[in-house]
Parts: sequence; structure tokens; C-alpha cells
Amino acid sequence: METAIQPLDAPTAIRKRRSIKSFKSEPLPPELLRELVDLTVAAPSSWNLQDWRIVLVQSPEQKAALAAAAWNQQMVVQAPVTFVFAADIRSWEKPFTERIFAQAEEAGAWPTKAVEYFRKAIPDSQRALGDKIREYAVKDAMIAATHLVIAAESLGLATCFMNGWIEDQVKAVIGAADDPDLAIAVLVPVGYAAEPRLDPGRLPFGENVFVDRVGQPYT
Ligand SMILES: Cc1cc2nc3c(=O)[nH]c(=O)nc-3n(C[C@H](O)[C@H](O)[C@H](O)COP(=O)(O)O)c2cc1C
Repeated sequence: METAIQPLDAPTAIRKRRSIKSFKSEPLPPELLRELVDLTVAAPSSWNLQDWRIVLVQSPEQKAALAAAAWNQQMVVQAPVTFVFAADIRSWEKPFTERIFAQAEEAGAWPTKAVEYFRKAIPDSQRALGDKIREYAVKDAMIAATHLVIAAESLGLATCFMNGWIEDQVKAVIGAADDPDLAIAVLVPVGYAAEPRLDPGRLPFGENVFVDRVGQPYT
């Protein structure tokens, strides 16, 4: 019988987290995966647009294809699931957004007046982003991925953020080859660690944390 998971508190999970490069083949209980998805999409996003598009890659065929798109990094094959975090750079133009407004209004979180303002302000702000639109959508997806990684660690699982892949190939694997609006942000295999959590360490704060201005080290 399964033992109930005692989640680690956030500071402990953050300190304990490491990038794990080899995973056991053990599957994730479906309710645990569901909890991870729930905690992932609890992430905030700009204007609450929720412009991430998340694909859970689980079948052996899809895992093999995704690994091939990721320089054959074996963690994608070994881990029971890899989350592909994509971002829809035109999410704000889609009917999706009206559902977000309706939900927030019904919950009493966004007054009708705010929704009326957002209906114009969101398209205006997104158009004003110009070339940065992709970067802004990817930020939201990365924040969601970070939620996943910390949540997974807290729940006894292991992860690794992955930048090592070819975007067009990843898009082809997830069935988005023809969607010019979909940007791939990051891949995150999730499973049970098959190696120790070894800490490569961090620089002292003074090297890259500053006070008031870059170059004035925080010590
Ligand atoms: C955005 C991002 C992309 C990364 N991509 C890869 C990757 O493709 N393959 C890999 O083995 N590690 C990857 N890593 C893991 C880093 O090498 C690792 O986070 C770093 O060495 C610090 O180790 P730690 O995560 O255990 O603290 C990535 C990490 C981040 C944050």
C-alpha cells in the first residue's frame, strides 16, 4: 500500500532541488500527476492570460521522438513523463481570453469595470510589445515550469529543466509543426531520481546580486 506523501515546505524543496539526469522507470501515480498539473497551472501569468500550452509526453513512442529532438538526452526516455512548456504568442487574440474574463468576474476577483478596461488594454499592450511578444509569452511558461519543478521536489519527485533541444523538432513531436504562434519555452522530465542530488554550488552573492545599482555587491 502506498504511503501518503508528506510534502516538503517550500524553502526545503528549493534548497534540496537538483537537476537530475537519470530517472527510475517507475510511473507516477495518476493522482500525483494531477496534483502536479494543478500546482503548475496555479502559476501567475501576465494579465492572467495563461498563455502556456503544456503537453505531457508519456507514451514510449512520443518519449523516444522527444528525446531525439533533444540531442538524445536520455532523461526524456527514462522519466515517466516530460512536460513540454510551450507558449501561444497570440493567446490574447483567442476566445480563450473571454473565458478568463468570465471566470474572474464570476469569482468576484475582477470587477466588471476592470474587465471592460482589460478588453482594450490587453490587445493594446500585447501589440505594443512588438518583437518582444514571444519573450513575454515564454516568461509566463517559464514561471509555470518553475512552479512544476518546486512542486515536484516538494512531493518527493525529481526534475531537470532542459534547454537542449531543437525547437522545430519538438514542435513536430507535439503536433504543432504548422503553428507559427507556438513557441517552445522549456522541457521538464519528471520522475523518481536514480542518482544522488549533488549540489554544484552557487557563487557568493557579491558576484551577481547588487544593491541599488549593478556593480554594488550585496554582501
Ligand atoms: C533553463 C535551463 C535549461 C537547462 N537545460 C539543461 C539541459 O538541456 N540538459 C541538462 O543536462 N541540464 C540542463 N539544465 C540543468 C543545469 O545544468 C543545472 O540547473 C545547473 O547546472 C545547476 O544545477 P542544479 O539545477 O542542480 O542546481 C538546465 C537548467 C536550466 C535552468
